[in-house]
Amino acid sequence: MNYETIAVKSLTPHLGAEITGVDLGSGVSDQQFSEIHKAWLEWSVLVFRDQDISREAHKAFAKRFGHLHVHPLQHNRDGDPEILTVKTTANSAYTAGDGWHTDVTCDEKPPLGSMLYITETPECGGGDTLFADMYLAYDLLSDTMKNMLASLVAVHDGALPYVGSYNVAPADGSNYPRNEHPVIVTHPQTAKKILYVNSGFTSHIKGLKKWESRAILDALFRHIDSTPRLVCRVEWQPGTLTFWDNRCTQHHAVWDYHPHSRYGERVSIVGADRPCS
Ligand code: SIN
Repeated sequence: MNYETIAVKSLTPHLGAEITGVDLGSGVSDQQFSEIHKAWLEWSVLVFRDQDISREAHKAFAKRFGHLHVHPLQHNRDGDPEILTVKTTANSAYTAGDGWHTDVTCDEKPPLGSMLYITETPECGGGDTLFADMYLAYDLLSDTMKNMLASLVAVHDGALPYVGSYNVAPADGSNYPRNEHPVIVTHPQTAKKILYVNSGFTSHIKGLKKWESRAILDALFRHIDSTPRLVCRVEWQPGTLTFWDNRCTQHHAVWDYHPHSRYGERVSIVGADRPCS
């Protein structure tokens, strides 16, 4: 694909690209926006380096793609509800996203994308994020498995990570979102098929015995975490912003830098559609 206002250098043959020629702090022109949008659909994970942006510029860039999302955990935190801070220190009990997941698939319309801007990286190195290509994860399944999964629907439950891993009960006594999505979905813009279950949020597959659901999900999760060719790896520097298509990728923040610290801020964009097959 030809680009006139940005340069695009792929990270792997199928997933991830570094974008140069863009200063997100000064805003992007309409043509740059349109080329970034094309590159995002083509590569799913875009990395912009050496960016110096305010929160307002971060949000303004995200708003070009849709309305901003408010994370279900935000009611426990102060500050701007549209900014999710990602902060890990020596005293952290966990680091957000330290496991394969797609963001907030417990929502009826999960975020279509997220932009993470990292401003502090661990001084010892480490703290990379792995991204996995869920188009390729689908393509690599056998036809028999694809056919079997095609009619299945899974439950995505916010309590699984937020209570189960982070031990954060909903402050107002309500429940975290819980929604059903097809196991195989179609990307609303590229029309390609995607394997759409993730170990962060997917609790079970409807209509199956408990052991059947567990066995199928565990096999799919193993497929994702033990197939290195699905993955691209983003190494951060202060000033790196990464924008992923949350509809067709999973990611895993690697916490390999304790007791050092890492800090960033994430803005996510509300999905326009319910995931559908
Ligand atoms: C997340 O959005 O899951 C966090 C990713 C990261 O910190 O690299």
